[in-house]
Amino acid sequence: MKHLISPLDLNKTEIDELIAIGNKMYENPKDYSSICQGKKIATLFYEPSTRTRLSFEAAMLNLGGNVLGFSSADSSSAAKGESVADTIRVISAYADIAAMRHPKEGAPMVASQHSSIPIINAGDGGHNHPTQTLTDLFTIKRLKGRLDNLTIGFCGDLKFGRTVHSLVQTLARYYTNIKFVFISPEELTIPSYLKKEVLEDNNIPFCEVRLLDDAIADLDILYMTRVQRERFFNEEDYVRLKDFYILTNAKLKSAKEDMLIMHPLPRVNEIATEVDEDPRAVYFKQAELGVYIRMALICRLLGLL
Ligand code: CP
Repeated sequence: MKHLISPLDLNKTEIDELIAIGNKMYENPKDYSSICQGKKIATLFYEPSTRTRLSFEAAMLNLGGNVLGFSSADSSSAAKGESVADTIRVISAYADIAAMRHPKEGAPMVASQHSSIPIINAGDGGHNHPTQTLTDLFTIKRLKGRLDNLTIGFCGDLKFGRTVHSLVQTLARYYTNIKFVFISPEELTIPSYLKKEVLEDNNIPFCEVRLLDDAIADLDILYMTRVQRERFFNEEDYVRLKDFYILTNAKLKSAKEDMLIMHPLPRVNEIATEVDEDPRAVYFKQAELGVYIRMALICRLLGLL
């Protein structure tokens, strides 16, 4: 049995295989509509979610399986003090696979150590979000045609942004000729362990800039992120930083014609809604594609494909 806790739990071959299966599922969803008949996924969400939880549930339903779970800690026995370890021991008897989101970094790892079913990390604090990374890679591969030879700009909250941390680690480890441009205010820069151990130690080029205008013209992909109120220790800092970047049509004038604008969503103010009409804006497509790569992942972890 295998769990998916860190994006690096998958090797490059496994990621490429998931993308290939995801493509087949996207092109011919009916071919897979009963492959998970009799199987159940438990979605254990201790933190809010729209896309991740519902795309896991849509994925399992598309595969002919069933879903159960909870969408907040308050509606589970966590509110009475039950540990993650005890919860997962019980859920292991109710479901065949589980996706867990938790505000504490490492909680899905703890769950995996006490589970007899595969555990998928659906986001743990500011740490990792491996299925968002699979979604992002699937989106880039489908819409850009490649995962090598890319200049990718990450903009916004790079300190707490787990989607950024997971995607940077994966691109740096498995793909070639990737240049990283980190665009953030001083207070929200990319963590030093990523700069040192993931990039510098492996001679992977990166730069850090404060202004989007200084970087946008060079990018093949602009990966926007939200400044996350829930990760701040005080409201004052959040209010000061929340509108630091707002992508508008005017700002996009110097961007490449084929640059992809991605965002894991939810968006607050960081992308003006006028940008949604730009053909380069692919964030809603990205959310849609997340269903198919999660279908592929569920089947792989259940040993069905
Ligand atoms: N991208 C993402 O994780 O979205 P949700 O928080 O809505 O699941």
